[in-house]
Amino acid sequence: MSAFYHSNQRRLRSSTHIRELAASVQLNYKQFIQPLFVDESITKQTPISTLSEINSDTVQSALKQIEADLKKGISKFLLFPVPEKKTENNFDYSFAVNIIHQIKKTFGNSVWVAADVCLCAYTSHGHCGILNAAKDKVLNDASVKELANYALQLAQAGADCIAPSDMMDGRIGAIRNILNENGFDDVSIMSYSAKFSSQFYGPFRDACKSAPGGNCNIHNRKTYQASAFNKKDAIVSTIRDINEGADIVMVKPALPYLDVIQDLHTKIEVPLAAYHVSGEYQSIELLAQNNSIERDKAHIEIWTALKRGGADIIISYAARHAKEWIEKVEY
Ligand code: PBG
Repeated sequence: MSAFYHSNQRRLRSSTHIRELAASVQLNYKQFIQPLFVDESITKQTPISTLSEINSDTVQSALKQIEADLKKGISKFLLFPVPEKKTENNFDYSFAVNIIHQIKKTFGNSVWVAADVCLCAYTSHGHCGILNAAKDKVLNDASVKELANYALQLAQAGADCIAPSDMMDGRIGAIRNILNENGFDDVSIMSYSAKFSSQFYGPFRDACKSAPGGNCNIHNRKTYQASAFNKKDAIVSTIRDINEGADIVMVKPALPYLDVIQDLHTKIEVPLAAYHVSGEYQSIELLAQNNSIERDKAHIEIWTALKRGGADIIISYAARHAKEWIEKVEY
């Protein structure tokens, strides 16, 4: 017999039964949100070349996609409208308003629609807000005013949730106020509160034609998105957004910021969402296409990490597979 004690951890790993019993987290497909891109400039559903299996939809094809997704057990959507016209001011939100209207008219309360609120798909320079005359600064208060006006129109169209991803200061309070003043106190706000300036948004920006830089003098989003080097900013911003009225808060990207998820989980008392963003998703897809990993198991493994870290809600481009994959998952 060994002279020192060693625990028999392998007893808890020895069969599927005991591994299932010993699990400390569970995945539930009901807590998944599927992003959808609806693009005004296309006439039929079009694959996004840098985002495997994901399409840009027309309004009609989005309705078909949602119908198919409902059959697969997905009923929560995060909508990204991509307008045809890009300007610097006087934005026209009618396309976004129309999609929400059509979705809610067709599916009513069998779907939950969160509408992304940001200006990056609307602006000719690709920034998330309005620029000053020298085009070297994103103006905070003018942007917030515009975003609140957009949020109100989306709520009037029937959005269940407003999801501001712009990262201006004070937008949650401004949106909460304008919604309440107009009788939309039941419309929730999911704040992209800990959104980092990241490489991993690349494929998304292809889909939304929203990369920053053209026709202006600022070529990245570092003056409004959080820095990877500053965890405290992400924590303070999230707590502030909760105080301003955010119902759900978010960490984005997910896996590179698992420490932030874990920290927030212990600090806050509102639901926490983790957004496994386009570049994170695509890195899995490319490995799978290379036969280096099994796609479904790899996504499940990452989702499990997000749950262990303390995320309640998972936003994933593979959300529409969550029910099927979770049902057959091997512990
Ligand atoms: C818009 C926005 C972005 C994402 C969601 N909303 C990109 C960005 O900030 O450039 C990224 C989502 C993804 O990569 O999946 N502000």
